Amino acid sequence: MMKLICLKNEREVSIRAAEIMSEVIKERPNALLGLATGSTPVGMYRELIKKHLDGELSFKEVRSVNLDEYVGLAPDHIQSYADFMAKNLFDYIDINKENTFIPNGAATDPEAECERYDRLLDRLGRVDIQLLGIGHNGHIAFNEPDVCFTKDTTLVNLTDSTVKANSRFFASEDQVPKEAISMGIGRILRSKRVLLLATGEGKADILEKALFGSVTPEVPASILQFYQGDLIVVGDEPAFKIIKQKHSEAIF
Ligand code: GLP
Repeated sequence: MMKLICLKNEREVSIRAAEIMSEVIKERPNALLGLATGSTPVGMYRELIKKHLDGELSFKEVRSVNLDEYVGLAPDHIQSYADFMAKNLFDYIDINKENTFIPNGAATDPEAECERYDRLLDRLGRVDIQLLGIGHNGHIAFNEPDVCFTKDTTLVNLTDSTVKANSRFFASEDQVPKEAISMGIGRILRSKRVLLLATGEGKADILEKALFGSVTPEVPASILQFYQGDLIVVGDEPAFKIIKQKHSEAIF
């Protein structure tokens, strides 16, 4: 079932998304969270930290798995997703860091690291709620447009457009790694719920294509139309611009 929630602005998106996540944690204190990076979820993480500092939410028993990591960046590298998670969430909550899992970008054999991550995911079981952002080309995690949908964790080549988009976090474009380890789409579809966040007009076009266009590996996020669990899409007015024009009846 797909539920589309269109809110006024990014702040409201962050607040609502944090509420959805915290409900899952309250219902199941040892929930397995599927976490994502990128700029979209940053505000939501801030809201979760606030809830924790207010004494409303504990992450003591919570476990987490991240979607992806750049190849070649060690966990303490300032641009690694491991460092992103520490700085944007983990350092400010009571989660046991031993229960937080992210592919190791510094592994000497990245293919073997993909394999190791899959075995870990098998052991942890189904993700209770998987958080997702969406790339401008429709990528989810680092699953780029392709001729087929990936199943398991894979070593991926980043497209030029993704490298360009992510260069804003680096000193220069040539410092952006060209490869990443990404959880496959098959893995993402195994989770019990998916929470997809989108903000800003730059996502309006791809969000409409992904949720209402053809289901094709050229738009990886389009597979979410076939997802069997609960798909909750929370976005702001600018991100929902095209959907509002074409499918206003679908908005909750
Ligand atoms: C990155 C990440 C994705 C993220 C996407 C969108 O490449 N690997 O997980 O969803 O790009 O990022 P942003 O939220 O900054 O637009």
